[in-house]
Amino acid sequence: MDSEPLSERHAVRGAAQMVELGAALGRLLAPGDVVLLEGQLGAGKTTLVQGIALGIGCAEPVTSPTFDLIHEYRSGRTPLIHIDPYRLQGPDELENIGYCDYLDLPCVLAVEWPERLGYLTPGDPLRITIEVRGRTRHVLVQRPAAMAHRREAP
Ligand SMILES: Nc1ncnc2c1ncn2[C@@H]1O[C@H](COP(=O)(O)OP(=O)(O)O)[C@@H](O)[C@H]1O
Ligand SMILES: [Mg+2]
Repeated sequence: MDSEPLSERHAVRGAAQMVELGAALGRLLAPGDVVLLEGQLGAGKTTLVQGIALGIGCAEPVTSPTFDLIHEYRSGRTPLIHIDPYRLQGPDELENIGYCDYLDLPCVLAVEWPERLGYLTPGDPLRITIEVRGRTRHVLVQRPAAMAHRREAP
C-alpha cells in the first residue's frame, strides 16, 4: 500500500479552489474526527468548512457561526458541527454553552480559532493552517496518524 504523507501543502487561489480542497478533505472524514482551522480573519477558514460540508454530503448552506458560535448540519453522511469561538473569552465559556457534549457525539467537529479552546482542545485533530501571502492562500494540512492511510469515502 502506498503510504500517504501526514502533511501536505496546497497553494490555493480563490474561494472556489478553497471549497474544492475542503470537499476533498470532507470526503475523508468520518464521525469522531476533529478539524482545527487556524488562520487570520478572512483567511478562508469558513470557506474551507463550506467545502468540508459538501464533501460530507451536506445539502444545507454553511454560514459563519461567528455570532451564534455553533452551527449544526445534519443532512450529510455524518453530522457536522461547526464552531467559531472567536468572540469567546476562553474555554470556561465554551463549557457553559455545551461544547463538551459535542465531543461525545458521533459527528465531525470543525473548529475555527482553535487557540481559544485551551484545555478543551481535542486530541488527534486534523490541523489546517491557512497563511495569506498576496493573492494566494497557503494551506498546510496535517493529518493525525489515525488518518494517515484513509482514502475518500465511497
Ligand atoms: N483561497 C482564497 N482566495 C481568495 N479569497 C478567498 C479564499 N478563500 C476564501 N476567500 C474569501 O475570503 C473571504 C473570507 O473568507 P472566510 O472563509 O470567511 O474567512 P475566515 O473564516 O478565515 O475569517 C470570503 O469572501 C471568501 O470568499
Ligand atoms: Mg470564519
